[in-house]
This record gives sequence, C-alpha cells and structure tokens, in this order.
Amino acid sequence: MRIVLVGPPGAGKGTQAAFLAENLSIPHISTGDLFRANISQGTPLGKQAQEYMRAGQLVPDEVTIGMAKDRMSAPDAESGFLLDGFPRNLAQAQALDGALKEEGQQLDAVLDLEVPEDEVVKRIAGRRICRADSSHVFHVEYSAPKQDGVCDVCGGELYQRDDDREETVRKRLAVYHSETEPIIDHYRAQGLVTTISALGEVAEVTARAMRALGRD
Ligand code: AP5
Ligand code: MG
Repeated sequence: MRIVLVGPPGAGKGTQAAFLAENLSIPHISTGDLFRANISQGTPLGKQAQEYMRAGQLVPDEVTIGMAKDRMSAPDAESGFLLDGFPRNLAQAQALDGALKEEGQQLDAVLDLEVPEDEVVKRIAGRRICRADSSHVFHVEYSAPKQDGVCDVCGGELYQRDDDREETVRKRLAVYHSETEPIIDHYRAQGLVTTISALGEVAEVTARAMRALGRD
C-alpha cells in the first residue's frame, strides 16, 4: 500500500506511523525524521534544513522533494510506503503525483488525522524524543518512558525537539493551515481522503486508522 498521513504538528503522525508501518509491513518515511538525522550527522543537507526547522518554516521544495524521492526509491519501498510529513504543500503533492505516475503507481489512501488545537499543544509540550532515533517518541504524561530521560526502545537519551518551543509551535500550526491543508482538498478530489479522529488512546487511533484503510 502507498499511504500519506496528514495532520497538524503533534497530531500523532509519527506515533501512528510506527504501528501502521509495522502492521502493514511497509517502511515509515518521515521527512522530519530524515532532516533530523541529517542535522545530527552534520551533513550539508542537514545544515540547509536546520534554520528553517528552527523557525517552524517549511524546508524549501528543491531540498525536500529530492530527499523524499530518493528515500521512496530505496528497495524496501518498492511495494509500498507510509509517508509522514510529506507532501506538505501543493507543489510537493504534484511532484509526488508525477513521480508515482512515471512508475505506473498510485496512492491508495490519504489518512487525515484530526485533533483539536489545545490537545496538540499538550501533546507537543510533553513530547520527548530519542537522540539516537527520532522515530522513538514518548510523552511525559501520556506514554512515559520506564526510566526518566531514557528511551525504552534503544536506551538513547530523550530530549525535547528544538522546534517544540511554544512560539515555534504556533508558527508550525499557521504553516500547516496555510500550506498543508490545501493538499487535503487536492487528494479529496482524487477520492483518496479519509478523516479520522486522533483523540483517544494510541491503540484506539491505530484501530481506527486500520479500519479506514480496510485492514481491520
Ligand atoms: P515533522 O517532524 O514532520 O513535524 P510535524 O509535522 O510538526 O509533526 P510532529 O512530528 O511535531 O507531530 P506528529 O504528528 O508526528 O506527532 P507525534 O507522533 O510525535 O516536521 C518538522 C519540521 O521539518 C517542519 O516544521 C519543517 O521545517 C520540516 N519538514 C518536514 N517535512 C517537510 C516537508 N515535507 N517539506 C518542508 N519541510 C518539512 O506525537 C506528539 C506527542 O503526542 C508525542 O509525545 C506522543 O507520545 C503523543 N501522542 C501521540 N498520540 C497520542 C494519543 N493518542 N494520546 C496521547 N498522546 C499521544
Ligand atoms: Mg512527527
């Protein structure tokens, strides 16, 4: 299956993607995680992305589209993938449509995670991620690690993301409304969108998502 996960910052895209990707045996591709890995390795791409991420702005399309396409063309993504955080504006959605068409492929579904803004703020304020692998995500209250500050999965150090300061979160939300929401209509016109509530227990949301994908 080829799936796009869309939703505001803190909706739980990364959290859900981990479970969905495992259930569906497809790779979880997060452009945010790819950028963070590049930043921690000090690559030129990471250096380019860093200032935009810190400011809560989108990294320019020239950088992002190439990186996403590159990852999607890896062998493990041949028969499907779950995209988290890409596409994030209309130009990226059109680039993805074009790339898939060239390969004779198409998206199967776009899952839109809906969550009220006050919940988003709570989720982001308590989020802690693993320095060794930013796909390992915790929350101090909702999914606390067994040991404070230590990743349950790999023992890495847990920290708060640079862009999780309140002011930057507000900017990311504004960017989501102005740049990313229009892709929902773009995909709605293709009959691909299912909106589900991202409220409730993590497992409940996963079950809802699997049902929406016809895989329950
Ligand atoms: P990215 O990393 O994609 O961040 P985001 O979209 O802002 O989303 P988040 O990762 O903040 O939230 P999430 O929905 O994954 O929530 P999570 O599962 O962690 O992008 C970061 C930046 O990179 C962008 O601002 C931009 O600069 C750049 N970028 C990335 N992609 C780009 C692109 N395509 N183009 C241009 N620039 C790009 O959950 C949040 C918290 O809530 C966690 O603590 C979790 O434990 C908790 N939680 C999750 N589910 C539940 C639940 N059901 N109940 C209670 N708590 C829950
Ligand atoms: Mg995420």
